[in-house]
Amino acid sequence: MVAVRLGGLDHVISASRFDRSLLTTLFARAGALEGTRGQSLHGRIMATLFYEPSTRTRLSFESAMLRLGGCVLGTEAAHVFSSAMKGETLEDTIRMVCAYADVIVLRHDREGAAAQAASVATVPIVNAGDGPGEHPTQSLLDLFTIERELGRIDGLHVVICGDLRFGRTARSLARLLCLYEGVRISFVAPDVVQVGEDIRAFLRDRGVSFTLHSRLEEVIGTADVVYQTRVQKERFTKLAEFEVARSAIRIDSATMARLPARAIVMHPLPRVDEIDAVVDDDPRAAYFRQAANGVALRMALLEMLLA
Ligand code: ASP
Ligand code: CP
Repeated sequence: MVAVRLGGLDHVISASRFDRSLLTTLFARAGALEGTRGQSLHGRIMATLFYEPSTRTRLSFESAMLRLGGCVLGTEAAHVFSSAMKGETLEDTIRMVCAYADVIVLRHDREGAAAQAASVATVPIVNAGDGPGEHPTQSLLDLFTIERELGRIDGLHVVICGDLRFGRTARSLARLLCLYEGVRISFVAPDVVQVGEDIRAFLRDRGVSFTLHSRLEEVIGTADVVYQTRVQKERFTKLAEFEVARSAIRIDSATMARLPARAIVMHPLPRVDEIDAVVDDDPRAAYFRQAANGVALRMALLEMLLA
């Protein structure tokens, strides 16, 4: 059994694990840690176990741990580079890595894998993306970014677009936004990749106002945040559905001309072609700042889990 830690945080499997006061503490600490190096996690070890590709999540977690004086070990392409290749179960792998590390950051292609790992783990498991399920630490850095860019989260109109069926970052973000007062969410996607009934029910249960749309033009004029996402090609089993989804929603200079002057454009990245590169020079394009915020946010999270 994992001991209760600061803020009561043990495993991080779903964004619904967080409450507002925990986020306030986390964001304040992340702000304080930004650009710093320290020794608060000296002697602690973080394992990254990645069964799916990653640029930002794995490397920013590793950077965060190193900046706090900790050590990192791990494997990428774990389906082939770990003994999973020989038929070892996820549970057995986790049991072993718990003997080698104080925290495990896990990315897997199967929804539910992080919860399965947590069921046998004796150290905290951090879900770094479980198939089309969730990506809770991404949504933490997303909200941290919104607060830094716009000064508040309460009362905002957040437009979430792209692949809302398989996009785990959109699903985690919607869950976290429920913690704020007066937030309005517009989900913009073609029917084949519109947001799932589970997220709609979650929002309804919490009285969060949301609407569904197929065209960005319908909502962009009042947006505070436009959160674009990549169509998750690797998760489609029907090519025809992917083809419908792939070019449905694109952000280009014409889209930016309709966006309010104080709004921001976010994206968890990687981007393929759903945001035109000309948008990058617009000061409202916050996606690279957003990704950079991942380091400080993950430093604060690791401290909460381990210090
Ligand atoms: N990097 C994010 C994820 O792993 C978003 C994406 O891949 O499109 O969920
Ligand atoms: N945002 C994100 O999860 O990026 P990676 O897939 O590169 O880790």
